[in-house]
Amino acid sequence: MCGIVGFAGKTKCIPIIYSGLEALEYRGYDSAGIAYIYNDKINIIKEKGKLINLKKKLDFDINSTIAIGHTRWATHGNANITNAHPHQVGKFTVVHNGIIENYIELKNKLSKKGYQFKSETDTEVISALLDYNYKLEKDILKAIDKTKKELIGSFALGILCSDDIKDIYALRYSSPLILASFTNGNFLASDIPAILNYTNKYIILENLEIAKINKETITIYNKDLKEVKHSYHTYNGEKSNVQKNSYEHFMLKEINEEDKVYKNTINSYFDGTLKSLNENFGFLKKYKKIDIVACGSAYHTGVIAKSLLENYANIKVYTEVASEYRYKKCFYDKDTLVILVSQSGETADTLAALRKAKNDKIKTLAIVNAIDSSIAREADYVLYTKAGPEIAVATTKAYLAQLTVFSLITLYLAYINNQLSSKEIDNIIKDIIKLPRLIKKEINNYQIYYNIADKIYENKQVFFIGRGLDYANSLEGALKLKEISYINSVAYQAGELKHGTISLIENKTPVIAIATDEVIIDKTISNIKEVKARNAYVIYVSSINPKDIFYDDFIKIEKVHPILQSILTIIPLQLLAYKVAKNNKCDIDKPRNLAKSVTVE
Ligand code: M6R
Repeated sequence: MCGIVGFAGKTKCIPIIYSGLEALEYRGYDSAGIAYIYNDKINIIKEKGKLINLKKKLDFDINSTIAIGHTRWATHGNANITNAHPHQVGKFTVVHNGIIENYIELKNKLSKKGYQFKSETDTEVISALLDYNYKLEKDILKAIDKTKKELIGSFALGILCSDDIKDIYALRYSSPLILASFTNGNFLASDIPAILNYTNKYIILENLEIAKINKETITIYNKDLKEVKHSYHTYNGEKSNVQKNSYEHFMLKEINEEDKVYKNTINSYFDGTLKSLNENFGFLKKYKKIDIVACGSAYHTGVIAKSLLENYANIKVYTEVASEYRYKKCFYDKDTLVILVSQSGETADTLAALRKAKNDKIKTLAIVNAIDSSIAREADYVLYTKAGPEIAVATTKAYLAQLTVFSLITLYLAYINNQLSSKEIDNIIKDIIKLPRLIKKEINNYQIYYNIADKIYENKQVFFIGRGLDYANSLEGALKLKEISYINSVAYQAGELKHGTISLIENKTPVIAIATDEVIIDKTISNIKEVKARNAYVIYVSSINPKDIFYDDFIKIEKVHPILQSILTIIPLQLLAYKVAKNNKCDIDKPRNLAKSVTVE
């Protein structure tokens, strides 16, 4: 959600900024712009829509060596050129990621001082406030410092001032910003992919710190404006992870990486012995109650984890979406652990939920993919998922890695709470070991799912149904389909249909019925027969061979222990969603209106 790249160096900067913005496209955006220094002046070029539109307006040969660039995901005002960043007021030009909550009050105050605004954005107000404070302070650093104290909300900012055309200033609170350098200059950026063409070393700017960047140096000032030094972090992933290679879409590439991602995640915490689980998860022993909090797909892994932890480890779990949880009364006690799940580690609501728990002195565990992200750094404990960078907005491999961590946690807690026999534990371990092969097998069966996708892609609505764990799988299957194909797909508890929803079933309405839970399968099948009796087009997804034919298509998945089953169940649903979206010619990796990293509330 919004991407920032800034560069000050000894070489032409427009190609560098543009390739940085391209690398941040995955975050989601609907307009873009660049401000660059040329002939000692700040020049601004903006365009709505995709980066390619901006590219047509840029002179890649221009002899400019300092610039800030931005991709905007509209929050305040439509996606048009006026609202696109950078925003310039007086001497200050700003790019911004985040939301300023008190921008109306600030805008009113500044309007009374004579400032006029062209856009509907909160960002233009920041530029005006900087300009106003600069007139009072007569010093750029002090003006930024004063401004940061007046802003309420979240902000990562790249700032140019026409009185200092050699430097870029940066400031952040609650939205991420990194700094980096290589032989030809220095960077600021929202995320690591923007710098990977030049370096894999970066500094994390902390909350309320200000950085000054020029072609020679990066200077960081702490919240009291004292100069501080931060050490460099190293990104160890492969650069090819952020490239599509021969795949048509990142989503497809990332699904095809799932066996490797599973292996990497398992190998980080489990060497085949229960001792290794104790070493990695021993800290969990003392918690008797768990709250799992997350958004979107990450929340769905929490729904699955609730079912697993309650049924197999005998631990009480409360799962909630972060945007609700952060404003809810929570019934914590001293044995509560709050688990935050996030791919990006920057999701605003999940971060706020974490801070709420910490505020109440409750211990927090982050299950996070992005190394050094805000959620990872602020939680008491971190377990990293080993999915590597995920570029497609629709999460696939990171979701699977989150499920993998929850499976291991369930196994460990079930073991220490004496809920599993040693024979059952041995069987689970055998399944853990054979899973990469089964994941690959499911991916390789893609043609089966593609054939089904070809039959249903023209429908306006699709239903997903299941019970228990399979209802949780349905939630993710439905989200995957709707977010990339724009088909209205909704998940229901199979037993709940006849209380209203079944009235929506018409001739040939696709119903994707998931049934992997042996204990309750007969009940689910009865519900499937109810929709079939109303002429639904039933796609039956199960690890168990049916006794009679009540479906139109059957997706057979491999059967493993329920603690691990959802890892396999989701793969056909991801590939089915992919092909439906492809048939509908949707922008699969960057679906409309969506952002990869949701850094606003
Ligand atoms: O980065 P996070 O895991 O915290 O993101 C949470 C959701 O925004 C994310 O899972 C979203 O639902 C995905 N687009 C789903 O594919």
